[in-house]
Amino acid sequence: QNEKVALFIIFGGSGDLARRKLYPSLFRLYQKGYLSRHFAVIGTARRPWENDYYRQIVVDSLNDIQATDEQIAEFAGHFYYQSHDVTNAAHYTVLKKLADTLDQKYQLQHNRIYYLAMSPNFFGTIAKHLKSEQILTTAGFNRLIIEKPFGHDYESAAELNQQIRASFEEDQIYRIDHYLGKEMVQNIAAIRFGNNIIESLWNNRYIDNIQITLSEALGVEERAGYYESAGAMRDMVQNHISQIATLLAMEPPVSFSARDIRHEKIKVLRSLHIDTPEEAQHNFVRGQYGPAVIDGQRLEGYREANNVASDSKTETYVAGKMEFENYRWAGVPFYVRTGKRLAKKETRVDIVYKQLPTNIFKAAQDDNKLGHNILTIFIEPTEGFSLRVNAKRLGQGFATRPVDLNFRHSAAATGNSPEAYERLLLDAMNGDSTNFTHWDELSQTWKFADVVEKVWSENTPTDFPNYASGSMGPKAADELLARDGRHWIFSA
Ligand code: BG6
Repeated sequence: QNEKVALFIIFGGSGDLARRKLYPSLFRLYQKGYLSRHFAVIGTARRPWENDYYRQIVVDSLNDIQATDEQIAEFAGHFYYQSHDVTNAAHYTVLKKLADTLDQKYQLQHNRIYYLAMSPNFFGTIAKHLKSEQILTTAGFNRLIIEKPFGHDYESAAELNQQIRASFEEDQIYRIDHYLGKEMVQNIAAIRFGNNIIESLWNNRYIDNIQITLSEALGVEERAGYYESAGAMRDMVQNHISQIATLLAMEPPVSFSARDIRHEKIKVLRSLHIDTPEEAQHNFVRGQYGPAVIDGQRLEGYREANNVASDSKTETYVAGKMEFENYRWAGVPFYVRTGKRLAKKETRVDIVYKQLPTNIFKAAQDDNKLGHNILTIFIEPTEGFSLRVNAKRLGQGFATRPVDLNFRHSAAATGNSPEAYERLLLDAMNGDSTNFTHWDELSQTWKFADVVEKVWSENTPTDFPNYASGSMGPKAADELLARDGRHWIFSA
């Protein structure tokens, strides 16, 4: 009875995202019985392909998944290809015909999910035609899933939103932020709202600062076409990091429902301090990776990568400070950082608690130091958390030392848990928008990012590249915290 019934129309069906994420995720949902007989997928792209050719692409994308040939063939049999020019109205008429035929054939109850896995330049045009050519059904559900980048700044995002809203209601729009599909990001709610000892201390009386680290080991790889005009601020901070900060900062929702959570997220984002240009200059640090030789192997610098300008000013690293101006968080900085080609892939949140008012053990031992209690949420590559507490060191005398109470999910358990896209696709089929971003959230995080972008665009960096591949980023990121008498908890 878990079976979902829907027609997927994927725009950008031959693209990288479709192959790497969407087809494998749909297949896993199929293996688990969420998709069975009553589903079909139309993949569209410009190229003139036959169904068989397209199905082979789908089959090839499942290489890493264990399954029988029959199962794969049966799954791929639900896929149909339609060569399509998104700007040509006549093409939508052909698409509609195919959609209606498949609706009948698979009894899809007029449920349709439109997945825009292509350049956002075309989001508005596609949304418009879906409505004008009546591909949107009146009997079943119609849901639009869109990928980032959602705009380049507040203004372009607002314009894009308006175009989409001309055809879809807000509650029909599912804006993907794949970090919201990650197990341990979803776990933030469980840790906070399921534990008295955590939530009772979750405020500025007990917490000194919060650190969000999204460190990547990979460089820009083959994505310079997009990345050169985006940079780390738009690529990671405006969306993923802001979303994590929001989940950490929001008030407990009335219930764990999409509506109530959304309400709290939007509310707390209204208290996000938007920097003045002077503050932005002071509170944010940018960097770009240069080459390095590690273990005899040379890693190229960003400016040497394919399709990157040799004098590129694009930042591949950002560190900064976010502040929520409300009763709970006033005075608690949220330090955030992300970068490419850093020492290690590590996604985590460190919650650093305040020091005790006094250290009574000092008298017993002169150099006794009590470290901060730290709650760490490990998001990737390991998933779990740890709580650092001070305890007595074994043996004679009296000294303390920090110990970590550790929990990590086993590799086997995490290997079997659904991948972000799989979760999010199922959520969209269920009409559950909890883990998608609302326009009101985006508009606020764009306003926040825009100030920094503006200051940066007016002051070209003169020191790029300013960190070596394989390091933990530019020195200025350490100084950012040192200025406040703090340091980054995670260092590779
Ligand atoms: C994407 C960014 O949104 O997230 C990429 O565009 C980045 O630049 C990626 O590499 C990181 O995602 P994950 O899931 O690998 O941490």
